[in-house]
Amino acid sequence: NQTPIILGIESSCDDTSAAVLRGRTLLSNVIASQAVHTAYGGVVPELASRAHEQNIVPVVSEALRRAGVTARDLDAIAFTRGPGLLGSLLVGTNFAKGLSLALDIPMVEVNHLHAHVLAHFIEEPEGEKRDAPEFPFLCLLVSGGNSQIILVRSASDMQIIGQTIDDAAGEAFDKCAKVMGLGYPGGPVVNRLASLGNPKAFPFSKPHIAGYDYSFSGLKTSFLYTLRDELVKNPNFIEERKEDLCASLQHTVIEILMKKLRQAAKDLGIRQVAVAGGVSANTGLREAFADHARRYGWKIFIPPFAYTTDNAAMVAMNGYFSFLEGKRCSLEAVPFARVMM
Ligand code: KG4
Repeated sequence: NQTPIILGIESSCDDTSAAVLRGRTLLSNVIASQAVHTAYGGVVPELASRAHEQNIVPVVSEALRRAGVTARDLDAIAFTRGPGLLGSLLVGTNFAKGLSLALDIPMVEVNHLHAHVLAHFIEEPEGEKRDAPEFPFLCLLVSGGNSQIILVRSASDMQIIGQTIDDAAGEAFDKCAKVMGLGYPGGPVVNRLASLGNPKAFPFSKPHIAGYDYSFSGLKTSFLYTLRDELVKNPNFIEERKEDLCASLQHTVIEILMKKLRQAAKDLGIRQVAVAGGVSANTGLREAFADHARRYGWKIFIPPFAYTTDNAAMVAMNGYFSFLEGKRCSLEAVPFARVMM
């Protein structure tokens, strides 16, 4: 009855990653990011699949080496089955199948979105000890493709209680950044410029929709119209005001996100609130969480930067929970591109 050692494999988008966990303790987490997409201003699915094929063997080997284990020490292989790019997912899924057959150990499938939520349970052997959330808790999952409020009752019982009806929060950052000519992905650039600007300079529109759902398309349009109207008067408008534009954009996105989260926390009487996904790297959002902790007595959980983007550590973490619950995945399993939660 030794603590299980789990290999995690993540290949849902443009990062090839492998990680090894012993129980909840992280032994290694290797990520190979793909530079090929930068020239295209976004991820090119076919190129992503090819790069995964090139990366997967060296990345897994390196993860095992850094963890100080061999493939024979593994108890199970956890892999991202979806959602994501189908071609990318196929590489990780088929690799997991091959390894599972060769080593005669089980595979455990992982939902990429659940994995983001469960990243909060990863323990690092060294460094500062972080508390894990207690069930039930709320998790704001914000990335380039998702904006959801998830009620997490247990590691395997998650319910989306609110989600975007159009764009994701990360998309709002990226698209507005793109029209300002700030490159792709623009979220981190907006964040950096926002710290130099006035968040109240431009009152961009906020949605009025029922329940805990989000919408970011109105904000995007209002941002675009502001640029259009101002550029007629002053062709240098963007250059002169980009800090204020970014600060106001970031401020509005955060206000939209926190309003619904606050409402959900209040209605459900939950004070343990976590954030996950790429946009949780945003320093303004992190400050808003800290502010809510002070004002509403929330206990907040903010992942280290390394676990905000796609990584296999969170996949292995999710795999560990599922493995303990006795969940196993058949060799017949095929990836799924869309959300199935
Ligand atoms: O979870 P993630 O790595 O992958 C996708 O779902 O695509 O999230 C990436 C998203 C992008 O939209 C990116 O612009 C955004 O997260 N992002 C940020 C920041 N860092 C990453 N948005 C705002 N501020 C940041 N500091």
